[in-house]
Amino acid sequence: MKYRGIIFDLDGVICFTDQYHYQAWKNLADEIGVYFDEQINNRLRGVSRMDSLDIILEKSEKEYTKVEKAVLAEKKNTLYVSLLENMTSADLPHEVKETLDKLRQAGMLLAIGSSSKNAKLILSHLGLEGYFDAISDGTNITNSKPDPEVFLKAAQFINFKPEECLVVEDAIAGIDAAIAGGFASAGLGEAATHTNVTYPMSKFSDLLTVTE
Ligand code: BG6
Ligand code: MG
Repeated sequence: MKYRGIIFDLDGVICFTDQYHYQAWKNLADEIGVYFDEQINNRLRGVSRMDSLDIILEKSEKEYTKVEKAVLAEKKNTLYVSLLENMTSADLPHEVKETLDKLRQAGMLLAIGSSSKNAKLILSHLGLEGYFDAISDGTNITNSKPDPEVFLKAAQFINFKPEECLVVEDAIAGIDAAIAGGFASAGLGEAATHTNVTYPMSKFSDLLTVTE
């Protein structure tokens, strides 16, 4: 076995909540009259809620206070959580579930390493409550990706060293975080284009070959 543990990002890797993040931020940006598009959205992947808001406000002419920013972030999250309401286990792709089951059967421990404070809520919508061996998320970190903290905590939770684990990501910031923490990385989507990603992948089930 090449790796003893696999640490998965959640949004954009296990499920496609990234589209709901986009919708909720777009709604907020339109409301406050700030330009926002898919390209700016890509910079938000893996980045915490407050840091994401700061990126969006780079295009704003108005300076926002800390309190105003907290209100804006809360507004976005309320809409985001309401969009999540419609998610069920039908939103967990078969390919993802089958691959996870096979990796587990091969003896690997599976953990989540997500910057989101909604990770446990999303996992329960997907019917994955209790499925992972450990969950490291936005509720147990102080620094979000590209800082490696979320992955280092995940590795600690499953009792493996970074070099024994593989990180699976869709975000450039996530691959940077994996590298900073001393992890091998597998990239999907934009993360597959990162110059230093260990394994660029075109689909989730490529993990079966990567870990062989
Ligand atoms: C990451 C997403 O997983 O979680 C980011 O890629 C998001 O886009 C971050 O900003 C924080 O999520 P939440 O649910 O705590 O607002
Ligand atoms: Mg992601």
